[in-house]
Amino acid sequence: MITVIGSINMDLVTITKKEPALGETVMGESFFTVPGGKGANQAVAAAKLGVPVKMIGCVGYDLFGEQYINHLKDHQIDIEHVRRLKNEKTGIASITVWNNDNKIIVVPGANKRITPEMVESHREEILKSSWLLLQFEIPLESIEKALEIAAEGNVNVILNPAPYHEIPENWLDKITYITPNEAEAKQLFSAFANKESLLPKLIITKGKDGVEYFSKGERVTIPALNVEAVDTTGAGDTFTGALAVALSEGLPLKESCQFAVKAAGFSVTKLGAQAGMPSRSDLNKETENR
Ligand code: RIB
Repeated sequence: MITVIGSINMDLVTITKKEPALGETVMGESFFTVPGGKGANQAVAAAKLGVPVKMIGCVGYDLFGEQYINHLKDHQIDIEHVRRLKNEKTGIASITVWNNDNKIIVVPGANKRITPEMVESHREEILKSSWLLLQFEIPLESIEKALEIAAEGNVNVILNPAPYHEIPENWLDKITYITPNEAEAKQLFSAFANKESLLPKLIITKGKDGVEYFSKGERVTIPALNVEAVDTTGAGDTFTGALAVALSEGLPLKESCQFAVKAAGFSVTKLGAQAGMPSRSDLNKETENR
């Protein structure tokens, strides 16, 4: 079982050909509302690949919350531990997509209510997991609590350090892999005193340049799928979710990264964080067609 403790956001996406300057109004191309949030994106990426996934998180008692719960159910994700909170709003992300890239502002809403106490109340679920996925869209102290519990039960952990926040050095031995993008990796690396111990944990997603990690001090590069990117939102989440799937099935790191890079390649071919995430048969077909 892969367990995700993390954010659930509704993404409010605007497509524009021109980015407004401060104080300027521009006319956009289109607008849509789709499920997102780094935690839920990773859960959906893994579930679409056909493995059991449990989501631990919070939504508000509002329309977005209700829509999101149904969406997770539709993807066969175990939502027993997703709480609907009165007096809270479901988290949202205001996303502007232009020039094949995006800018995102997250308003966490109910995601802030994933407290260490809530994490503690899911101790048994965490301990039953083979892999635990964490990101930085929920309170830091809750991530710390989840790491403590996972370490007690030798549960493997992938931390996706996004949006960027420093990782306390004493967390490192509780984390199996860290999946930053290039910018996050640079910040992490310069903030870390013990670079030697950080390096083997890093799997860096580099967009069209694929993925990079370090094995016995040597740099290993996994090339990206050659696709036309329409929207890169959620590509890193797809990578992390798919990586957990491959690792949980016992694939070695290199093959796991190849599998996950391929999944991330699919994800950028459609608009929205989750629409392009592939199923297992999508990935198999792609391999056969090569
Ligand atoms: O990683 C992409 C995600 O970041 C979006 O879906 C948005 O909700 C923000 O959390």
